[in-house]
Amino acid sequence: MTVQDIYELIPEHNEISDPELKRKCAETFLDAVRRGGWEEKGGIDKCPLQVGLLADDCPASGLDHMRKVAAIATRVYDHLGEWLNTIGKCDRDVVIAGALLHDVGKLMCYTLDENGKPAKAADYAMFNHCVWGAYLAKNNGLPDSVVHIVLTHSLAQAPEGPKALITPEARIVKNSDHIAWDSVAVHWPK
Ligand SMILES: [Fe+2]
Repeated sequence: MTVQDIYELIPEHNEISDPELKRKCAETFLDAVRRGGWEEKGGIDKCPLQVGLLADDCPASGLDHMRKVAAIATRVYDHLGEWLNTIGKCDRDVVIAGALLHDVGKLMCYTLDENGKPAKAADYAMFNHCVWGAYLAKNNGLPDSVVHIVLTHSLAQAPEGPKALITPEARIVKNSDHIAWDSVAVHWPK
């Protein structure tokens, strides 16, 4: 798998105008796919959205969810961005990169068991997906504005809780995440 393959699998990368940010975003996905062994497990789209709260046969994958969150966040920005920038700075590229990557840590937290069913990784209890995702993003050179979104988007799992959501970009991603999550969770409870 290459960066080009990631662009084809996740075409929302094309919404990022800064070529360096776009490439680093795709490289972070590639890093997670390789570390998590997802090529061997059948592909990045085999990584579950969640393990424990959703039915095992939920058709929405983690990748599907990240793409939906990016689509929602982009549309929110495109409706509100001009106004948001009259209040304070809000960066479209940061919103999109943060939305795309916000759950990339799930590629490290989740796996498939011997029967191909969604399962938690061996170190699940030690490192949640926010921490893993922030580590991957930081390690691949994403700016702190994007790492912050990845680290803080989950109110349940962010290390410092809701107070850590300090940027407008992080707020847009968090709320887009809730819309995309609830749309699936209402239909596919465990
Ligand atoms: Fe999410």
